[in-house]
Amino acid sequence: MTAAAGAPLLPSLRALVFDAYGTLFDVASAAARHRDRLGDRHAALSRLWRQKQLEYTWLRTLMGRHADFQQVTEDALDYALEALSLPAALRGGLLDIYRRLDAYPDAADTLRRLRERGLKTAILSNGSPSMLAAIVSGAGLDGAFDAVLSVESVGRFKPVPAVYRLAVDRLGVEAPEIGFVSANGWDAAGAAAFGFCTVWVNREGAPLDRLPARPLAQIKQLAELPALLGA
Ligand code: 2OP
Repeated sequence: MTAAAGAPLLPSLRALVFDAYGTLFDVASAAARHRDRLGDRHAALSRLWRQKQLEYTWLRTLMGRHADFQQVTEDALDYALEALSLPAALRGGLLDIYRRLDAYPDAADTLRRLRERGLKTAILSNGSPSMLAAIVSGAGLDGAFDAVLSVESVGRFKPVPAVYRLAVDRLGVEAPEIGFVSANGWDAAGAAAFGFCTVWVNREGAPLDRLPARPLAQIKQLAELPALLGA
């Protein structure tokens, strides 16, 4: 579904809720800053680290054995460093940078424009409260959100519906009036299945996941959001 020429697709939203890692914050930037010590394997490390991090969130939730995103991120990094025969000595520096990820260049201005339009803005993320506080502050985005919501309030990871319900309960806005923005296709599907008006930030031009629900719109960058809302 796409907007007719010029007509805003999502004009009646009252809030926009953003995924954090990979959507507002560039997870690849963590490993890229170690390019000098990782050589040409920084991309392979970044991919495998992220893949195992997400796998562990899904498997822990399915197993009923929750641990917070900090623990899962560390476990995934340990796996990736061993799998790629990289020195464990890199661990501390990589984890430290993960707490200071770069925000995408269009994030701050897009958030400002959305709030000027009177929309509530929030983060809803797998990240632990302390991790999210660190990256929001580190990216200079303090004050850009009405709420920063962590799955730790539920004790299970996305895409469990109870996680998306956090945004409804904390913002006091019903699901059809909430826009959910994620660069993670599976997260966009989970949010759409819950009932949010979902926008997938498909920067890589990836195919749509074959899952039970689809995003309402696809964009290439966050800066396209205000036009979708008629802002
Ligand atoms: C987040 O919850 C899915 O990792 C992504 O921020």
